[in-house]
Amino acid sequence: MRIDVVSLFPEEVDRCTAFGVTGRARERGLLQLHGWNPREYADGNYRKTDDRTFGGGPGMVMLVEPLRRCLAAVRQADPTPVHVVYLSPQGRRLEQKRVRELAAMPRLVLLCGRYEGIDERLVQAEVDEELSIGDYVLSGGELAAAVVVDAVARLQDGALNDAGSAAQDSFEDGLLDCPHYSHPVEHAYGTVPEVLRSGNHAAIARWRRQQALVRTWLRRPDLLQGRELSKVDRKLLEE
Ligand code: ADE
Repeated sequence: MRIDVVSLFPEEVDRCTAFGVTGRARERGLLQLHGWNPREYADGNYRKTDDRTFGGGPGMVMLVEPLRRCLAAVRQADPTPVHVVYLSPQGRRLEQKRVRELAAMPRLVLLCGRYEGIDERLVQAEVDEELSIGDYVLSGGELAAAVVVDAVARLQDGALNDAGSAAQDSFEDGLLDCPHYSHPVEHAYGTVPEVLRSGNHAAIARWRRQQALVRTWLRRPDLLQGRELSKVDRKLLEE
């Protein structure tokens, strides 16, 4: 898939996604990342991209026109239709279900705000979806955009060396992930649970399911609310 990042600091998103799984997905051509800077589409010697907010108050607002021109260039660069996502704390909170849907799209544009945000007229005219990565405020949308790039990159076919590992992730089945262990079996910090070394695949799957259920119940009960657990799962939770 292709992702275009529109930002005053596109290099920040580029650098944040240059390593590990995302870096490899980019090298393999599974994900093409393109950075665009609205400053290059701004007028005058100063190439001004922001101004004071009408109505008064602190902070600056990103101007409509440099962003409009920049987005026109982004749309023109490739005939594939775009889905424009604006990263902001006012957006709907991003969850794995939406990540999966975004990952299946051929082309995304991630629009990053700075300062107090973007002139609302640009948002109304050009943005398909406003997304937040959590209930806290970042200095700009760039880190949020990098989070989106990472989350969708690892879901591209061929991005993970073990295709099963995405399916096993937290949230893929609506639960937190179970704990994992590796060598050595014995350590001053504890021993690897015996069941994981038993070779009994049914028992291992059962233990993992139980751990995932209990963790979710204790740490994120909101994930279980309004969800009908199967008889087997209820029994595992009660044990
Ligand atoms: N920009 C600033 N804060 C943000 C957040 N929490 N999510 C997405 N974009 C943001």
